[in-house]
This record gives sequence, C-alpha cells and structure tokens, in this order.
Amino acid sequence: MPTLADYQHVARGKVRELYDVDDELLLFVASDRISAYDHVLSTEIPDKGRVLTAMSVFWFERLAPNHLVAYDDPRIPAEVRGRALLVRKLQMVDVECVARGYLTGSGMADYTATGAVCGIELPAGLVEASELTPPIFTPASKAEIGAHDENVSFEVIAEKHGVELASKLRDRTIELYSEARAYALTRGLILADTKFEFGLDASGELILADEVFTPDSSRYWPAEGYEPGRVQPSFDKQYVRDWLTSDASGWDRKSDVPPPPLPADVVEATRNRYVEAYERLTGRSFADWLA
Ligand SMILES: Nc1ncnc2c1ncn2[C@@H]1O[C@H](COP(=O)(O)OP(=O)(O)O)[C@@H](O)[C@H]1O
Ligand SMILES: [Mg+2]
Repeated sequence: MPTLADYQHVARGKVRELYDVDDELLLFVASDRISAYDHVLSTEIPDKGRVLTAMSVFWFERLAPNHLVAYDDPRIPAEVRGRALLVRKLQMVDVECVARGYLTGSGMADYTATGAVCGIELPAGLVEASELTPPIFTPASKAEIGAHDENVSFEVIAEKHGVELASKLRDRTIELYSEARAYALTRGLILADTKFEFGLDASGELILADEVFTPDSSRYWPAEGYEPGRVQPSFDKQYVRDWLTSDASGWDRKSDVPPPPLPADVVEATRNRYVEAYERLTGRSFADWLA
C-alpha cells in the first residue's frame, strides 16, 4: 500500500492538497480545513473532508463526464481513505462557474447596488432569497488564496476564453445546476446556487472537475419554511460566519487580523450541519461512508 509520502505534492488550495500519482492521475485530498471570509481558519471541522468527498462522489456517479476515476482504490493511501479521490489531471479553466436560482450573497449585493448580477439585468423589486427564473450564469474570476473572487460578465469570460468555450461553460453550468436542483427538491432541499470548476482533457473535451454540490460550493436551504425577504438558514458555514461576526468572537472582519480559533460548540454544530446535509441529500448514513 502506498503512503502519502510516496506521491509528489503538487498544489495546496484552501481546503485540498493535490499529489501527482502518474502522468494522468492526481490524488485529490480534502482536508478538514474550513475557510470563511477569505481566511482559512486555524480550527478544523472533524470529518468535513470526508463529508465533502462523499457528497462529490454521490454526484459524480450521476453526472458525466467528470474527473473522478476512483474513490476506493489501492492507490489511495489508507491515511486519507474516504477523503481522497483519484482524478484525471486536467488543464483547469480559470473560471468559477456559478449558477444562481435564487438571489442571495454576492448576487444580492450586486443587484442591490446595480440592479444586475454579472451584467444580467434583473427585474425590479426582487428581495433576499427571491427565486430567479430562469437561473442565471454568474461567473467569477478565481482569486489567489486570501483574495476575493470577483463577479464578471459573460462577455469578460468570452473575451478571455473565446465565445465557444464561454458558451459551453454557461450552458453546462445551467444544465448541471437545474438537474441537481430538481433532485434536491425531492429531498426537501432548495439548491439556491452552486459553483463548478471545469477542466479540459488532452483532446479538448470539457470535463467537470473539483468538488460538486458540496456545502462548500453550494447553498442548500431547507425547503420547508422557505420565505423570500429574509436570509434563509443554510447547510454551510453559517454557524461559523455568524459566530465570527458576533461580539463573542471579538474579531473585526474588516481588519487584517486572522480570525480567532472556533469554540468547541461551534465546531460541533458545524460538523453536524455538514453531516446532516450529506444525509438529507443522499438519503444515506454518513456512518456507512468509507472509514
Ligand atoms: N481534475 C483536476 N486537475 C487539476 N486541478 C484540479 C482538478 N480538479 C480541481 N483542481 C484544482 O484543485 C484545487 C482544489 O483545491 P481547493 O482547496 O478546493 O482550492 P481553492 O482554494 O481554489 O478552492 C483547485 O485549485 C482546483 O482548481
Ligand atoms: Mg475549492
């Protein structure tokens, strides 16, 4: 059995570590790190890496073509089993492909400021959590670690990547989002928005990569109790964000100071929320995921 030390470490993201397996394959390892407000926090959330991996696998098994090669494989070291994937090494397209079916977050902020999101004019009178019909493609340029992704228009993506690739990114993004959103509703969840990353294989085919429909890349809201006009409770880092911006943390979001460590109850509530998202969405028990 190989160990991690047998593989060359090639990249570190906010949450993941990438290792070279061979010319075609990467070992794609999700850590328990959590980021909020563009900071990677000093406290980890136990099992988060395994939850994100299990959720991505659930979706990759339904959505082709994608980068997943194997999740249960002798080439995956025992020490990262359950939170590591063997994936096809791709040339990543440098665009955060976001689909929004509801108005919230940076979309809401842009709409409030300009009446549009990523250059897409929206009707007047929309409120927090309003449904967007049809869903819209709101790409963002991928920022370095520590910086904020920037919403851009379709035209900016088309100028940089060509209108053909930009159109494919947009159409694939809306298609994938629409499919998952319909499924999520059958599980009592609203998939409000999501972010994909795509890569190109050697033959130039566009392949879904990275993580998919995880609470880190998507906003899930309970369908029950959904009500436009207020911020919906979500299955992501809500506890973490709420605590960081509360008086209890003593942290100033606008300062350059890194956020303080998370208290045990916030860690526990956040872990439970990630696990609950997995179990509600998939109908599977997290205890049954690879240990
Ligand atoms: N199949 C792939 N081939 C090469 N790189 C990939 C592939 N899938 C995802 N990536 C890259 O791996 C990294 C994942 O690490 P992550 O911690 O999620 O990064 P980030 O901080 O950018 O979110 C990202 O930079 C992503 O673009
Ligand atoms: Mg990422």
